[in-house]
Amino acid sequence: MAALRPPRLDAAPDEVARIAAAAPDWATLAATARSCVACPELAAVRQHVVVGDVPASGRPLVAFVGEAPGATEDETGRPFVGRSGALLDQLLAEAGLDRAECAVLNVVKCRPPGNRTPKAPEVARCSGWLHRQIDLLDPPAIVALGLSAAKWFLGPKTVLGRAREHPHPWNGRGLYVTYHPSAAIRFGPNGAPRAALAADLRQVAHLVGKRDLP
Ligand code: URA
Repeated sequence: MAALRPPRLDAAPDEVARIAAAAPDWATLAATARSCVACPELAAVRQHVVVGDVPASGRPLVAFVGEAPGATEDETGRPFVGRSGALLDQLLAEAGLDRAECAVLNVVKCRPPGNRTPKAPEVARCSGWLHRQIDLLDPPAIVALGLSAAKWFLGPKTVLGRAREHPHPWNGRGLYVTYHPSAAIRFGPNGAPRAALAADLRQVAHLVGKRDLP
C-alpha cells in the first residue's frame, strides 16, 4: 500500500490530523505514520515509529491504549513488548482476553527520550494518528491504560482513580480507564494497582462476552 506524503518536521497538529484522516485503510496509515517527522526531538532519536498491533481481521474486540513506546518497543517496532507488555499479556490471558483479538495502541507513537512523559505538543501532533486508528478499527470497547491515555480521552483534569469507577461513553463507544501495567509493576505483585488492573481487565472481558463472571 502506498504511503501518503508524511507530515513534515514540526508539522502542526491539524496538518498531521488532515494527513491521518486521508488514510483510507490501516496499511496506508501505518506506512505514512512510519515516515512522520512532526516531532523533531522524537524523530531524531527513534529507531521505530510504533504504530500499533491490530488483529488480522482488522476488527478488534477491544482497543488498549497506552502512553508511548519504551526502549523495547522502540527497538522492535511493536507496542507493549517490554516488561509492561509481559504483565499486560499475562493479565489479559488470566482475564480470558486473547491479545491477538485486540488492538494495542499508544497515544504517542515514538519513544520519548529516557521514557519521559510525552510533552503536550507531542501529544497534540500525534493525536491525529490515534483518532484515525480508532475510526478505522471501530472497536466496541476502548481501555485507557494509565493517566496519559485517560487524559487523552477525557481531558487534562482527569483523576485516574475516579475515572476508573465507571465507563465513559466516548464517541459512541464504551471507554474504560484503568492503571498502566507499569504502575502495577512499581507497586509490586501484592500492590493495589495490580489487583485493580486485573479486576478491571476481568470486567472488560465480561463486558465483551469473553468471561461469564466479572
Ligand atoms: N508503555 C506504554 O505506554 N506503551 C508501550 O507500548 C510500552 C510501554
